[in-house]
Amino acid sequence: NPLYVITPTYRRPEQVPELTRMAHTLMLVKNVHWLVIEDAHTPTQQVTDLLQRTGLKYEHLVAPMPEQYKKKNGAKPRGVSNRNRGLQWIRANATSGVFYFADDDNTYDIKLFDEIRTTRKVSMWPVGLCTKFGLSTPIVKNGKFIGFYDGWMAGRKFPVDMAGFAVSVKFLLERPKASMPFRPGYEEDGFLKSLAPFNPSEIELLADNCSQVLAWHTQTKKNEPSAALDKEKYASTNLIKLKQ
Ligand code: UGA
Ligand code: MN
Repeated sequence: NPLYVITPTYRRPEQVPELTRMAHTLMLVKNVHWLVIEDAHTPTQQVTDLLQRTGLKYEHLVAPMPEQYKKKNGAKPRGVSNRNRGLQWIRANATSGVFYFADDDNTYDIKLFDEIRTTRKVSMWPVGLCTKFGLSTPIVKNGKFIGFYDGWMAGRKFPVDMAGFAVSVKFLLERPKASMPFRPGYEEDGFLKSLAPFNPSEIELLADNCSQVLAWHTQTKKNEPSAALDKEKYASTNLIKLKQ
């Protein structure tokens, strides 16, 4: 059964390096179908080139963030339009398997993807480098779920990180209204609540009863956009191709 990996991404100096790292992780995993969805109006050529070179099965889609959210100062609903586009693709094209929302800047152990495949409804596992606790995870006692450990509970029913859960395609298809809200900080909770009826007691606990970290919420330092190239001065040199 295919494993659908839904990855939001957007144009910035770090985009190609992030996607390169992630692609090279996924190239070590069998039967992955990568849905790469850009927060842009048109696909980025360098991303298309990278995807083609990987040999992975992929879709390259676009889903721009609605203008109303872009203008706002402060927290924006990052990656939400992209992930909802991914869900739309799954509803239109997939019939079985599992999907996972995997941001382009996180770090994934390839062991995670084999664990995820076993998901029947919704599975969860620990995510490292996350919140002020340095960790976000279900709490497990005697093999049973007893609560959540997360540095930002915020009254959420499912205080988990985007990188910490996966859902079966069939389970999603039985819930035609499930989607992710444009609500910064509450994307995961809102999406998981939209999968009702589903309760925390039904969570499938992966990564050896949530005792291993196989995903990390890493963040790459932002780089300033680079200065423009003097195209006359460097005509007919490698710099023209490098800086396009
Ligand atoms: C955290 C969560 O892990 C995200 O899932 C959540 O969407 C985000 O917070 C949020 O609530 O805003 P964080 O590392 O802070 O993630 O955010 P980013 O990694 O900057 O963005 C999350 C994903 O959305 C990435 O895959 C990124 O490429 C994409 N993104 C970000 C866009 O598509 N457009 C943007 O303008 C910004
Ligand atoms: Mn991130």
